[in-house]
Amino acid sequence: MKIAVKINDVQREFSITPGETLLELLRREGYKGVKKGCETGDCGACAVLLDGRAVNSCLVLAAKVDGHTVVTVEGLEKNGELAPLQEAFLDTGAVQCGYCTPGMLIAATDLLAHNPDPSEEEIKEAISGNLCRCTGYVKQVEAIKLAVQRMRGGEDA
Ligand code: FES
Ligand code: FES
Repeated sequence: MKIAVKINDVQREFSITPGETLLELLRREGYKGVKKGCETGDCGACAVLLDGRAVNSCLVLAAKVDGHTVVTVEGLEKNGELAPLQEAFLDTGAVQCGYCTPGMLIAATDLLAHNPDPSEEEIKEAISGNLCRCTGYVKQVEAIKLAVQRMRGGEDA
């Protein structure tokens, strides 16, 4: 079957196979920033925004996104400029091996779009579905706080 999806602001059409997941579709179409981890919904590495909300793309059938809007980590930068969250992740050293980073960025983007001034607890809750084997999560929480501060026009943390 064919589906039409807006991905990262570009309207696209794809032929999909029955049972194909959104994760499989995105990676075969070159969106390699969407990482394949557990494929059972437990690690968050494959997270994308579906109609503005973070979802684990390994749990979504590609057929279900027909007519919908998807944003992958590749779509977070605008006109060659990294998003404030991406800058903050780099500046705080929140990226080590980087495997969890796309999913973390997607989860944090969803959080800040719906709650521009989250508490530390809310930040931790928002990334609780994103497993990181490298950092202990402290740096990512710091990065999200820094992005919030910068987006509010404040000084660097
Ligand atoms: S690969 Fe989708 S949640 Fe782990
Ligand atoms: S930075 Fe390596 S898994 Fe998170």
